[in-house]
Amino acid sequence: MASSVKKPWGGRFREDTDRLVEEFTESVSFDQRLALHDLRQDLAHLEALKRAGVVTEEEAERIARGLSEIEAEIREGRFVFRAELEDVHMNIEAALREKIGPLAGKLHTGRSRNDQVATDFRLYLRDEIREILRLLHDLRRALVEKAREGLEIILPGFTHLQHAQPVLLAHHLLAYYEMFRRDADRFQDTLRRTAECPLGSAALAGTPYPLDRELTARLLGFERPSRNSMDAVSDRDFVLEFLFDAAVTMMHLSRLAEEIVLWMSPEFGFVDLPDALCTGSSIMPQKKNPDVAELLRGKCGRVYGNLLALLTVMKGLPLTYNRDLQEDKEPAFDTADTLRASLKVAALLVRGLSPRAERMRAAAEEGHPTATDLADYLVMKGLPFREAHEVTGRIVAFAEERGLKLWKIPLEDLRRFSDLIEEDVYEWLSVEGSVARRRTYGGTAPERVREALAQAEEELSAEELP
Ligand code: ARG
Repeated sequence: MASSVKKPWGGRFREDTDRLVEEFTESVSFDQRLALHDLRQDLAHLEALKRAGVVTEEEAERIARGLSEIEAEIREGRFVFRAELEDVHMNIEAALREKIGPLAGKLHTGRSRNDQVATDFRLYLRDEIREILRLLHDLRRALVEKAREGLEIILPGFTHLQHAQPVLLAHHLLAYYEMFRRDADRFQDTLRRTAECPLGSAALAGTPYPLDRELTARLLGFERPSRNSMDAVSDRDFVLEFLFDAAVTMMHLSRLAEEIVLWMSPEFGFVDLPDALCTGSSIMPQKKNPDVAELLRGKCGRVYGNLLALLTVMKGLPLTYNRDLQEDKEPAFDTADTLRASLKVAALLVRGLSPRAERMRAAAEEGHPTATDLADYLVMKGLPFREAHEVTGRIVAFAEERGLKLWKIPLEDLRRFSDLIEEDVYEWLSVEGSVARRRTYGGTAPERVREALAQAEEELSAEELP
């Protein structure tokens, strides 16, 4: 079976393309998402062609009119993309020819689909990054709002998922704020590095037409033209960077999601979520499950996979353009869709969290969370830290045997382990005292956390989104 549609590249071909080959090589089923970016690029390129004298003023106007009709059809969903025309670029070119005749063919002067697709894809990813930065901003806002509510709430901080030291809920939530702040920063960096425009590189070597590449770069919102035409048509590290930034962000979302799942279990019972953000079981009537958080965790997998998929595609590709590069799009589209959706529901979850302060506070007393404070107390009384650690360990074992909390052990019992211990030890053993003493910059003491919160709030209101 063969297709008889005339291909823009068909001049040297004596046979029609095999149907299977057409199906195998087409990309329009997914790259049609680049259609509006392709049209933006067409207009910029048209301007450069006009200034280079390749098309007249009047021709440029006819081409621009044709393009704007096509744009309206695409926006209104009336445009019919045809797989026989391979990709979005040739679909638009063919549609233009139907509207304005052979003049349409002038638009591809001095341009190849190789620099065209590299330019479209940068334009597309730059738009996605801007949207992702807005969503990251909103998620950070949600965390800061929730942290404000958690300024007085104490919960156990964990290491190895064992109770370690008490911390403020606000401090715990602001830890995620920091992760998402760095994620935003990484996307901003990627935005800076994608600011180079490949258009004018043509197939790989540049073009003989005097195209003003500074002009087209500027018209398309880039900062400058790319410096090497061979690099420009074959580099995809900007996509890889996007995929990496997204993978790290998803990893952070997944960790947050995992904590929400844990915290919602009856064993923890640290938080509750509104019904609207949970789902049920088709068999067990009592169930209210944190499926949204689980899916956030689960979707991390495909985003990692997309990064690895493209890294693997790129490895070993000789310069310059190879058709393998067409495999860059689906992983990036899937990652952008997944990340956008995940950031939106994550903000919803964070805003929906109801902390159960009394449960957290009770848990913060379990597992001798102020043992480090007792060791610090002994250090303050002159014992070297290693010895203090040893003595405290023995006191903890004693407490375990008797089923006592450290602050419930009578003074005379404590003094049997060290005569440095006096009445004032009990201040050191309280959970509140432990939190309050951690006053180093970045620590969980209430005044430090209030400062951190104020700083985060200030940062958010000063943040200029691109
Ligand atoms: N659809 C291709 C891609 O996404 C662009 C076309 C370049 N094709 C070519 N034969 N040079 O990479």
